[in-house]
Amino acid sequence: MSVDPNPTHQREIAQLGDPILRQKAHAIDEWRDPQLQVLINDLLNTVKQANGVGIAAPQVSESLQLFIVASRPTLRYPYAPVMEPTPMLNPRILSSSQATVKDWEGCLSVSDQRGLVPRHQKIQVEYCDRHGQLQTAELTDFVARIFQHEYDHLQGIVFVDRVEDPQDLISEAEYQKLITEKVKSSADS
Ligand code: NI
Repeated sequence: MSVDPNPTHQREIAQLGDPILRQKAHAIDEWRDPQLQVLINDLLNTVKQANGVGIAAPQVSESLQLFIVASRPTLRYPYAPVMEPTPMLNPRILSSSQATVKDWEGCLSVSDQRGLVPRHQKIQVEYCDRHGQLQTAELTDFVARIFQHEYDHLQGIVFVDRVEDPQDLISEAEYQKLITEKVKSSADS
């Protein structure tokens, strides 16, 4: 028996500047490859350990059209809905609402930065689940935002590219001040 080279099933997360984050990811066509299931498990584990709500395969240096959407409330996103972490393979956006919403985003590949990013409020999507079965879904609000953020990673786009006003890109420390003020003002009113 060989020794598992990756006993924790966590992968190193590529950081902004790594060329892998700027490449277009390849479509998955080798559904029977056991390494694909290992990668999916590693992504599920890595996003959980990193306290993220999503992660895309290029972020662990695998140029494949695969990401995890794992919305749940965290310190950064206290009002996020809870869902079962869902692997999405060869995802597509079928249609999107004209309405867009701006909200704060961060990224496991961009440390210490937060940005206000406009996203479609509602999207119709399709993707294959980890067994290769085609799924369709209508996603709204925060989950739609995660999907669009991760889908961008497959095109080589990072959220900072979508920040429209330079003032909308801020440090984690400034972001923490902002949300603390927000909590305070809503408690006051
Ligand atoms: Ni990201």
